[in-house]
Amino acid sequence: MDAHRVMVIGVGSIGERHLRCFNATGRADLSFCEPNETLRRTIADRYRVARCYAGLDQAMDDRSNRFDVGVIAAPAPLHIPMATQLVRAGVHVFIEKPLSTGLDGIQELEDLINERRVAAAVAYTYRSHPALRSMKQAIDAGRFGRPVQVVSVWGQHFPKYRPAYRQIYYTSRATGGGAVQDVLTHAINAGEFLVGPVDRVMADAAHQVLEGVEVEDTVHVIARHGDVLGCYSLNQHQAPNENSITVICERGTARFELNNARWLSMTEPGGEWREEFTFSLERDDIFVNQANLFLDVVEGKAEPACTVAEGLQTLRVNLAILAAADHPSWRPVVTEKGPKA
Ligand SMILES: NC(=O)c1ccc[n+]([C@@H]2O[C@H](COP(=O)([O-])OP(=O)(O)OC[C@H]3O[C@@H](n4cnc5c(N)ncnc54)[C@H](O)[C@@H]3O)[C@@H](O)[C@H]2O)c1
Repeated sequence: MDAHRVMVIGVGSIGERHLRCFNATGRADLSFCEPNETLRRTIADRYRVARCYAGLDQAMDDRSNRFDVGVIAAPAPLHIPMATQLVRAGVHVFIEKPLSTGLDGIQELEDLINERRVAAAVAYTYRSHPALRSMKQAIDAGRFGRPVQVVSVWGQHFPKYRPAYRQIYYTSRATGGGAVQDVLTHAINAGEFLVGPVDRVMADAAHQVLEGVEVEDTVHVIARHGDVLGCYSLNQHQAPNENSITVICERGTARFELNNARWLSMTEPGGEWREEFTFSLERDDIFVNQANLFLDVVEGKAEPACTVAEGLQTLRVNLAILAAADHPSWRPVVTEKGPKA
């Protein structure tokens, strides 16, 4: 089969990775657009990409470069307008998370995707992770009985891994920033993948540590996935890299560890963890795998790891968490002196 002609839109942090990782599939002929001229030149030189453009309009105007796949890696408020423009032209779309920062235009995009019969997926990376997929299979097959609780613990020193955080979309919720839309959304989406959609939340979030920004960097969420109780904690400033999602079922417990690229199980009370499946620790491998999966979807050989409808569901949870965190309903602890003011 001929290579897919893939256009990456925005080659900042994740766009550059998509460019490199789609290229590594050996199934893609790449071009990209990027308004930042210095970055555009750097990336074109680094990956020897001949066709690059200042924007999506210029890319679509180039009749000598009819691409069939668009990878949208610009900031979140641009995701829906860009996807709509691409799908209208019959281009398959792989859209970075979060799907958007609000609900505008999403129904129209879904209608257009159905009408134009293009492949579309949201890049919630961990849904393509072989270890998480293997764990889901085991849970769905009933190996541990009915899931009853999800506990997700995530923490990482954001300035170490993303030193430019003060200069990018991260600084404002309106551009897709803050811990909820930036990272917690991955955990929520993975939790929904494992045990079904969240239907209600309580949340607490604050800016605690990160210098130079005011958005929340620390979050706690209590969620319900129907009958399954969920709790999600996350911060972006602790020293250890911690990243686990544990699903407690009636007859056993399954744990996904992103940083160890594996999942574990335990069924004997007080027993030992059993390593069930490990994947590569090389971060690019997760993204190459994700790119291959999306190209399989384009070729009609696979279902999207995260559909637009599933991305929309997680977006609705993001919005509910932000609203809950902004208007928390605290119950004061009553002492002999009465409730604390
Ligand atoms: N799936 C993941 O693991 C993951 C990781 C990081 C970021 N993301 C998501 O990807 C998106 C981008 O994040 P990032 O970290 O790469 O941000 P970034 O700021 O590093 O890069 C965004 C790039 O988009 C470019 N851009 C802006 N307007 C554009 C336009 N009109 N047309 C084309 N390009 C445009 C910017 O110049 C910039 O280079 C965000 O939604 C973010 O949440 C996902």
